[in-house]
Amino acid sequence: MTIAPASPTLWHNCRVATLQAGASSPYGLIDDGALVVDGARLLWVGARQALPGDFAGGVCQRIDLGGALVTPGLIDCHTHLVYGGTRADEFEQRLQGASYEAIARAGGGIRSTVAATRAASTDELLRLAMARAQCLQQQGVTTLEIKSGYGLSLAHERRCLQVARALGQRLPLTVRTTFLGAHALPSEYEGRADDYIDAICTWLPELAHEGLVDAVDAFCEHIAFSPVQVRRVFELARTIGLPVKLHAEQLSDQGGAVLACEFGALSCDHLEYLGEAGVRAMVAAGSVAVLLPGAFYFLRETKLPPIAALRQHDVPMALATDHNPGSSPVLSLLLMLNMACTLFRLTPEEALRAVTVHAARALGLPDRGTLAAGQRADFCVWALDHPNELSYWLGRNPCQTVVVAGQAVLPSPITN
Ligand code: NIG
Ligand code: FE
Repeated sequence: MTIAPASPTLWHNCRVATLQAGASSPYGLIDDGALVVDGARLLWVGARQALPGDFAGGVCQRIDLGGALVTPGLIDCHTHLVYGGTRADEFEQRLQGASYEAIARAGGGIRSTVAATRAASTDELLRLAMARAQCLQQQGVTTLEIKSGYGLSLAHERRCLQVARALGQRLPLTVRTTFLGAHALPSEYEGRADDYIDAICTWLPELAHEGLVDAVDAFCEHIAFSPVQVRRVFELARTIGLPVKLHAEQLSDQGGAVLACEFGALSCDHLEYLGEAGVRAMVAAGSVAVLLPGAFYFLRETKLPPIAALRQHDVPMALATDHNPGSSPVLSLLLMLNMACTLFRLTPEEALRAVTVHAARALGLPDRGTLAAGQRADFCVWALDHPNELSYWLGRNPCQTVVVAGQAVLPSPITN
């Protein structure tokens, strides 16, 4: 069901976590708050008693939220949502002691998902990706990044990016696409990694020209691509004018973050093995640290990302699901808030900023992530008293309503 309120609309009788910079209260919390929405934008946000006369006097349609909590729409800034098949069998192998790297080296891992993705029809890929996106959306996601990287040929990478774009047209959320051709070496290029990099450097301009690419990513790791190889992809991205991000220091310190920051990376992601030099480079570049507790948990990692150093140097920390079939089959961004607190010791406020303000920055989207006049009217209404509960509950969906560009797109079936 879609509610299409007339503009402007006053949403009132709510606690609003604005997350505005420099707010005097934690979370920028306003206890008795109100939002005025005009079209796709927020016209006014503040305490109800401070409502300008026109709005208070009833020129707006009014929606009473009954004291519920309002936050910015959540942003999942790192996913691999478009793929065929599952890797549940690999999960079982890992439970028997096989490592993620050993499975990848033996030709499983990403390559097995590439085979399943190539074999799936486009309709099937879209149907699967839509179902996954809807899970995320039901828990408050209004902006979603989707990487390619399970096609690994021009035609298949194009198809995955087209599916991601189609998803953004069919569902009421923003989809940002990232080209991740340098995810793994496809078997047809075995022993010829440099030739494969040559190939993806011919695909990228074509895909960008077709409007399919918003950013460029790579997997810089001993089981994937070297810094020298990633540099070639990033140099091309810079020439085309596309921003970069990097799967960096997930399994070892390859100096990936330092490299990515030379190219002004929007974000460096994973970062369990990030060292001092990497942190300093991220500070200088203003790069966001995207932490992925789902992959950390699912791979049973023990090396923690350097949270204290990131905090000390004010590196903005974002969180994402990293949804993918191998290392993070996670379809709840709220669960990532809890895991970031329990596993990485983030505070609940850091966790909420990580999936709003900082996730927006990781995607280069300054028009969202906070609730303030002029921002996109993407917000969520939660059956909660306080924003720290977003990190607290496990396995419950407290999301009552999801509003995207001013339209309520998802009244939740659960109203607990
Ligand atoms: O972000 N690390 C590289 N890529 C994914 C995993 C991909 C897979 O195992 O299929 C990640 O964890
Ligand atoms: Fe990833």
